[in-house]
Parts: sequence; C-alpha cells; structure tokens
Amino acid sequence: MEGQTDLSTEIAGIELANPLMLASGIMDETGHSMANAVRHGAGSVVTKSLSMEPREGHPNPVVYEMDIGMINAMGLPNPGVEAYAEEISSFRKKAGDTPIFASIFGSSIDEYAHAASKAEQLGVDGIEINGSCPNAKGLGLQFGQSPGVIGDLVSAVRSAVTIPVLFKLTPVTDDIVKLALAAQEGGAHALVAINTMKVIKLDIRTKRPILTNGFGGLSGPALKPIGVRCVYEICSDERMEIPVIGVGGISTAEDAIEYMMAGASAVQIGTAVRWQGPSVFEEINEGISSFMEEMGYSSIKELIGAALEDGE
Ligand code: DHB
Repeated sequence: MEGQTDLSTEIAGIELANPLMLASGIMDETGHSMANAVRHGAGSVVTKSLSMEPREGHPNPVVYEMDIGMINAMGLPNPGVEAYAEEISSFRKKAGDTPIFASIFGSSIDEYAHAASKAEQLGVDGIEINGSCPNAKGLGLQFGQSPGVIGDLVSAVRSAVTIPVLFKLTPVTDDIVKLALAAQEGGAHALVAINTMKVIKLDIRTKRPILTNGFGGLSGPALKPIGVRCVYEICSDERMEIPVIGVGGISTAEDAIEYMMAGASAVQIGTAVRWQGPSVFEEINEGISSFMEEMGYSSIKELIGAALEDGE
C-alpha cells in the first residue's frame, strides 16, 4: 500500500510512523475514538483541550457549517484532566505506544503548568499548549497574542514536565513569527501552526450572531492558505530552530504536501476528519506515497521545507 516510500517523521525526538496527526477537538472525546483514528492511519493524536477543572462549555448552537469551512465556539468543554485518565489508558490498550499529545489550557499560567503536569502523570508523550482558543473569556487569546506572555507560559509548562512541549499559535496576530520566536525562546520543543481564526456569523433576520458565544473559530478549507502562509513565514526565518506542525484546512494529500513543502515536519487534520470520517487518514497517506513515488522522493524528510529558499 505504501510501496517503497518512507512516511516516518519526527517531532521533538518522538518518532511518528507517518506525518498525519488527529487535531485537537475532533473525534478525541474518548480513548476509543482516538484509537480509531490510529486504526485508520493517523500516526499520532492530540486530545481535546483539557483543564484542571471540568467545564461544560457553551450552550447550543456551538457550530455553524459552511462549504468553505466550519465555525465553532464549543467553549472548551472537557471533563477535567484527571477524569480523562481512563481515556488515555483505553487509548494505550487499543493503540499501543502510538504517540498521544495532551492539549491543555488554563485561566492562569499556574493552571496551565498544573494541567500539563497532571497530563504527564497520565502517561501522554507530549503536551500541546492551547494558548489561542478564540472563544472563552480569560482562557484563550490573551495568552497567545503577547510574545512576553507566551515566553512565560511556555517556560512555566516546560518546568512542570519532562516530556516535549508543543505550543499552538494563533493566526489572530500581525506577526506570527514574533509569537513563534517567543515560544521557542520560552523552551518549546515544537510549534503547531495554526489554531482557528476568530470570526463571526450573523443571522440577518434576528440581527444577532448565530452562535451563543457570538465569535467563533473558523477551521476547514478557508483556513488553508492562511495556515500555509504562517508555516512558510515561520520556517523561512533563519532564527527558527524547532520543528513546526502544520494545521488548517488539510483534507487531501496535496494539502498535506503543500504544508510540508512550506516547512511543516508533520500535519494535523481536524475538520476533514469530522466531515469525511477517519478514513481520510488512509486516503492522505496513500496519496502522499503515490506522489512521492511519482516524483522520485524516497523519504518524507525530503519534502519538508522543499519550497523554502534553501530547501532542496
Ligand atoms: C474552541 C477552542 C479552540 O482552541 C478553537 O480553536 C476553537 C474553539 C472552543 O472550545 O470553543
């Protein structure tokens, strides 16, 4: 199925059988659903965003779907990091040692650090800091838009854990490279670019926003050129030393390859998994292999950064 091509890649010393990761917030409610993504070809998974205390999230409606993408404002619902322990152990039973990253958030830097430390105790392989949820007051963008806060947040989480720390960047900024460098300086082992874009959808009959939260996060196809541009800008900067994981609007092998050529060492898929089901992982892995065979690439590592000036 995958011929002679080597799809393996590496993030922060963690070996991934292929570059496809399940993005946070999609089909990651349970160990079973995350293991199902792996069964269908995901090389690793990210949990839903977890906090120290359980959260109910916003009342419905929380999702608005369009052809060009999806807007959501769930409000970070989760059972709390400790209650999620059984999902991690059920994932391990079903998916063995396939890498699993815990997405974490909090209402203060201390809370982020505490949640990360609890997540490490559950046996995850790495932490993904969600410093950029566009829809929960006091829990999101104010952490992810200031280079100073990002540096402090990442270094607090680094000190609280021994496993690799990934920082997920927001596209809601005038300078994503500045944010990326702040995360690197704070000690991040890798970056994830990008989180959803803050948007709004109005109902012209009620003259009010459709989602209860008002604003929401845009994901899906409309986000792809923005995500590719962000990865390209970050990876073009000669001060960047850590790997970048690309995310935003990937639904085909071509999309994944484009992100990797812009510099991404791996990619995450969310909305396409929701829309097409987890078989999208198999489809994309096969598409990447065929492209590599057709173009004479033997390892995925040859694709990473190939579009950058000093790429191959
Ligand atoms: C939510 C969180 C996010 O990080 C995001 O990008 C979109 C939505 C949420 O739970 O509301």
